[in-house]
Amino acid sequence: MLTILLAFAASSLAQQVYIPAEGSSRPQCVANLSYATAAPSFTFRQFAFTQVETIRTATSIPRPTSTPSFAPPYAFLSHLVPNLTTTQWGNWDPSRTLSATDVGKPYGNASWTALWTSISFSNFSRGIYSTTVTPTPVPSSDLVLPPPDYFGPRDCYYFPEDFILGVAGSAAQIEGAVADEGRTPAIVDIASIGNSLSSDFVTNENYYLYKQDIERIAAMGIKYYSFSIPWSRILPFVVYGSPVNKPGLNHYDDLINFVISKGMLPTVTLLHTDTPLQFYANYTDTRIAPGAGIGYIDGGFQRSFKNQSFEDAFVHYGKILMTHFADRVPVWFTFNEPLLGSLNGKSVNAVIKSHARLYHFYHGVINGTGSVSLKFNDNFGVPRDPKNQDDVDATNHFNDFQVATFANPIFLGIDYPEAFKMTIPDFVPLSAEDLVYINGTADFFAIDPYTATIVSPPENRTVASCASNSTDPLRPYCVTQSLITTTGWNIGYRSQTYVYMTPTYFRTYLSYLWNTYKSPIMITEFGFPVFGEDEKALSDQLFDSPRSWYYQSFMSEMLKSIWQDGVKVLGAFAWSFADNWEFGDFTAHYGIQTVNRTTQERHYKKSFFELVDFVESRRQKAH
Ligand SMILES: *[C@@H]1O[C@H](CO)[C@@H](O)[C@H](O)[C@H]1NC(C)=O
Ligand SMILES: *[C@@H]1O[C@H](CO)[C@@H](O)[C@H](O)[C@H]1NC(C)=O
Ligand SMILES: *[C@@H]1O[C@H](CO)[C@@H](O)[C@H](O)[C@H]1NC(C)=O
Ligand SMILES: *[C@@H]1O[C@H](CO)[C@@H](O)[C@H](O)[C@H]1NC(C)=O
Ligand SMILES: *[C@@H]1O[C@H](CO)[C@@H](O)[C@H](O)[C@H]1NC(C)=O
Ligand SMILES: *[C@@H]1O[C@H](CO)[C@@H](O)[C@H](O)[C@H]1NC(C)=O
Ligand SMILES: *[C@@H]1O[C@H](CO)[C@@H](O)[C@H](O)[C@H]1NC(C)=O
Ligand SMILES: *[C@@H]1O[C@H](CO)[C@@H](O)[C@H](O)[C@H]1NC(C)=O
Ligand SMILES: *[C@@H]1O[C@H](CO)[C@@H](O)[C@H](O)[C@H]1NC(C)=O
Ligand SMILES: *[C@@H]1O[C@H](CO)[C@@H](O)[C@H](O)[C@H]1NC(C)=O
Ligand SMILES: *[C@@H]1O[C@H](CO)[C@@H](O)[C@H](O)[C@H]1NC(C)=O
Repeated sequence: MLTILLAFAASSLAQQVYIPAEGSSRPQCVANLSYATAAPSFTFRQFAFTQVETIRTATSIPRPTSTPSFAPPYAFLSHLVPNLTTTQWGNWDPSRTLSATDVGKPYGNASWTALWTSISFSNFSRGIYSTTVTPTPVPSSDLVLPPPDYFGPRDCYYFPEDFILGVAGSAAQIEGAVADEGRTPAIVDIASIGNSLSSDFVTNENYYLYKQDIERIAAMGIKYYSFSIPWSRILPFVVYGSPVNKPGLNHYDDLINFVISKGMLPTVTLLHTDTPLQFYANYTDTRIAPGAGIGYIDGGFQRSFKNQSFEDAFVHYGKILMTHFADRVPVWFTFNEPLLGSLNGKSVNAVIKSHARLYHFYHGVINGTGSVSLKFNDNFGVPRDPKNQDDVDATNHFNDFQVATFANPIFLGIDYPEAFKMTIPDFVPLSAEDLVYINGTADFFAIDPYTATIVSPPENRTVASCASNSTDPLRPYCVTQSLITTTGWNIGYRSQTYVYMTPTYFRTYLSYLWNTYKSPIMITEFGFPVFGEDEKALSDQLFDSPRSWYYQSFMSEMLKSIWQDGVKVLGAFAWSFADNWEFGDFTAHYGIQTVNRTTQERHYKKSFFELVDFVESRRQKAH
């Protein structure tokens, strides 16, 4: 008996807070303690049915009365991107014969077409639309709030008046029209060639439905819309010196103006998994084999093309977008989750340096008054036992590798962490001058904190011996990860994917980031793919209670973080504003709207209303 008790005591040192068998306290009930002793009184009354549903409607953002400005317009900045030429190319359609006669012209139509015909697509397909759809107002019948879940948040905190509430998406996952209006291939387009994923060339057809999508987001009262622009649609031939695609530029100019006309503000990500394919001489397999590098798919950051490094070419592309759009775009992200696309130490270095150069360009050259950052990923590691130093060390190693590798230089002006240097021997050293240049080149800390994982040291070896062993299967993180706690329970309610619902660890995560990097925090993506949602009937997909619990519990813990822990959180972007292509298929639904794969029709899910309602009912008013 004693040994059993001791064993239990040892395992109970884990993250959980234990409560007695009599149940937990109910602090919200102190005012009603008389019920604890009083006897109920039973009575008969006349019975009648009553209406239990409340009808309310969502409120759209009012049209703006003035247009905010965050930098001089392009006319004043064009000298900063000298000698830009613009032209246009058409659409590529494998079912039609090609007529380009300008063979040999480096940036002509024949060269453009060859970029598509050189790829052996087995499955190229087009969607329903080939021109921008005129938006229609959202009918008020679509905006009736759903019945709330019985158990809802019980907090009493408020969000700051300027708290940013937004929704996010990325071009490769929603746009479709991949070979239209001058775009050239990107690595996501060849996902099916050599890789185990399926490509998708249609997705949500947002390239033609963007106005309707923005109309629907605005109708829900969302203020910020986060999207990415494909490099290969702006610069189809990628490099400095090649012409800019005028229709591509016009498309995003129009998109930005439409967002603003709806009373919203745009945020732009420069690169979200769609590195131009021209960086890859041999693209038959862009997967990074487990343990053989840092991330999952080679994002090409360490590569060069036509003698221009990725870094130089990316900075050139970034300058083109910033000079054209910074007057109207208040928030810029250079990279989305760069760790996942990093092959080696050179990749990481190219990300940090090109990011820093664009930051200095934005604030130091064009005098932008908005903000610039980059989005990090890390399924937050928490120690199996916070009182066990080995578990804590392994956890710090795990989080450092994923976050400090970029954030040490960018936020603190200090070298890469040991976790990175001991694991990736070809890291590019940062000089003292580099660190001075890179330090402080992000205006806030952007994190995609979907979930958490329980970390302990690797079995039968140390973190260090794993990190120095190029064939260890636990590379690159070199820790043991578990989604089962020491008590045998899952870490949280499970979604369709790696995401478990871990709101209390989210609060810990916010404290960890704030106190480590000492920068305000923006939640740039978070969301929950409800298990099996894609197999349900439409009405059941729309009643997505687990996704509401995810958003409400995370937002509730965020409020505690702000008010109880003193953490500055600037805002949050829901991933995603609609179900989309999750790099292989459409089965994991992250959306707060459904998308009919045949008709492209969208419907609001219950969680969309409840996320907006949670924030807006708690937003401080101007005083
Ligand atoms: C608790 O008591 C207060 C004061 O009598 C009353 O207004 C409130 O409705 C009670 N709450 C519940 C849950 O019974
Ligand atoms: C721009 O073009 C002019 C004339 O062709 C040339 O003299 C100049 O060097 C170019 N500038 C850059 C930055 O390429
Ligand atoms: C490609 O062809 C189209 C249609 O003829 C033409 O408008 C466009 O200018 C051409 N683009 C280039 C780069 O030659
Ligand atoms: C082709 O499309 C089908 C249907 O969408 C899909 O099941 C298949 O995996 C795709 N093949 C490739 C190579 O992408
Ligand atoms: C291209 O990559 C594949 C897969 O990694 C490899 O088998 C092949 O040898 C490579 N080809 C060239 C020309 O490098
Ligand atoms: C490529 O770059 C290297 C190093 O900057 C330079 O020496 C070389 O001349 C360049 N080659 C071409 C073809 O521009
Ligand atoms: C940015 O500000 C600096 C310093 O005030 C000024 O010299 C420069 O001309 C400004 N740049 C632009 C594009 O206005
Ligand atoms: C980085 O910049 C911040 C803000 O200017 C400064 O406080 C900090 O000391 C710098 N870091 C280093 C290592 O110099
Ligand atoms: C660790 O060592 C034990 C005992 O030799 C062995 O049973 C176990 O399989 C090892 N675990 C791993 C992951 O190698
Ligand atoms: C490195 O890892 C491999 C694969 O797990 C293992 O077989 C080998 O013994 C390890 N080498 C060292 C030096 O630990
Ligand atoms: C998509 O729309 C079609 C046509 O209206 C309909 O038959 C189908 O059931 C819809 N799919 C879902 C999942 O609702």
